[in-house]
Amino acid sequence: RQIVIPKDPSLPPEVFHWLPIVGSAIQYGSDPLNFFFKCREKYGDVFTFVLLGRKITVALGNKGNNFVLGGKHTSFSAEDAYTHLTTPVFGKDVVYDVPNEVFMEQKKFVKFGLSADNLRSYVGMIEDEVEEFMKNDGSFLIYQMNDINEWGRFDVTEAMSGLTILTASRTLQGKEVRDGLNKSFSELYNDLDGGFTPLNFMFPNLPLESYRRRDRAHAKMSQFYVDIINKRREGNSDTDHDMIAALMDQKYRDGRSLRDHEIAHIMIALLMAGQHTSSATSSWALLHIAHDQAVQKALYEEQVKYFGAGEGKFRPLTHEELRQLPILDSVIRETLRMHPPLHSLMRKVREDVPVPPTLSAPSKDGTYVVPKGHFVLSSAYVSQMDPLVWSKPNDFNAARWSEPDGAAAEAFRVYSDETGEKVDYGFGAVSKGTESPYQPFGAGRHRCIGEQFAYLQLGTVISTIIRKVELRLESDKVPDHNYHTMIVMPKKPRNICYRRRNFN
Ligand code: HEM
Repeated sequence: RQIVIPKDPSLPPEVFHWLPIVGSAIQYGSDPLNFFFKCREKYGDVFTFVLLGRKITVALGNKGNNFVLGGKHTSFSAEDAYTHLTTPVFGKDVVYDVPNEVFMEQKKFVKFGLSADNLRSYVGMIEDEVEEFMKNDGSFLIYQMNDINEWGRFDVTEAMSGLTILTASRTLQGKEVRDGLNKSFSELYNDLDGGFTPLNFMFPNLPLESYRRRDRAHAKMSQFYVDIINKRREGNSDTDHDMIAALMDQKYRDGRSLRDHEIAHIMIALLMAGQHTSSATSSWALLHIAHDQAVQKALYEEQVKYFGAGEGKFRPLTHEELRQLPILDSVIRETLRMHPPLHSLMRKVREDVPVPPTLSAPSKDGTYVVPKGHFVLSSAYVSQMDPLVWSKPNDFNAARWSEPDGAAAEAFRVYSDETGEKVDYGFGAVSKGTESPYQPFGAGRHRCIGEQFAYLQLGTVISTIIRKVELRLESDKVPDHNYHTMIVMPKKPRNICYRRRNFN
């Protein structure tokens, strides 16, 4: 006789699966958006699925985002969810390897390195790097073409990965890293990156060569930064506008300065945090720009209007002006709406947490409880692609960001606690609050601190490219998503064709 174990009515509904441990790994891993939408239809906004032995409780929609990202960090822990993935890559004593209070201090230190003054000084450097890259890189030979009518082509993600590491190292990472961006640094980076995959997330300790390479690369990379710090201490450094300089100046609340290895590991963490997120976003943005000629024309005309100096010449960009270009801003926002690089944010549950009845409730009175030991997951990807929130969410429509009363404007609005009135943060404001449906940079305590830098980097890269070349897609549609990497990338083929602009 079959023994039926009655289901605990206080638990959220569990997604049906055939294979006990594997659970819904295949459906989630190959197309999370479709999986979540289908589950929502069947189970509502809160449900649990099994992912290779782990129980993941998903909370969808604005209220779901708020439940997970606005939850107490003592109940929902990011470090418990991520440390086994990140500590071997970033290193000891930083980020998720330390108690959350310490990491919050470290986040504050990083903010000093991202001061307005520093950001201002980065724009010109990024512009220079893009121009050099377009001249020199093998896949992007714009200036070497004699015939103005000749079309070249490049794999967008390869080109953007190269550009992102060049621009981030010239600015945030510092002169020595930029000068050392030779083959051996790239190899170290690649080996480290090979340890930052969904496989590493699911299986932290496999006896695989890639895991050993990751560990060797971490040790060498860490030493590389420690050497830079020591050389700087010896004097003769004129590098006061970068992150290493900022971190060397900071002190914890107890008066202690950061140790060299902590600075080194924070630098590695920033390198990893910014690399794929920014290169994925610039790739998707360029793919849409190449696909949508009207958007491309508008972007180019915006550059001419604000910076044009005649005959294809432009004034250099500045940080202040970059932030006031409505079309460029909308293109980046819309790209991040449709392609948030991180589709799932997770926390590990440290104590039983009731789900508010306003979010989801079982049919009888009472509430669901997410039990200790589960993971909780929020997906801004779902709320950013939700047809209940956005009109035609599958259309790339940058113009939606300038509609005064559309869903996009609403996502940036906050309601005053005192009066209940809408408080409009206006154009260019960052999305506020854990309850917004638009959260490509997360929300709450763990919100991204790289957003301003990312906007500056993306804006400068896109502007500099669009000033010089016309783009078109090689195929007839923007590629599908590849969900098999940590950060969602465009599937191959993802070639863009380009041609030097004709100013006659
Ligand atoms: C956190 C997205 C660029 C540094 C986050 C989170 C998201 C995100 C969604 C929240 C993670 C969570 O709650 O679990 C992005 C996107 C980027 C980007 C879409 C670019 C388009 C950067 C850059 C840096 C950076 C350039 C560094 C300069 C960080 C840091 C955190 C973070 C330090 C905090 C993690 C925490 O508190 O747990 N980012 N990021 N990010 N990001 Fe970014």
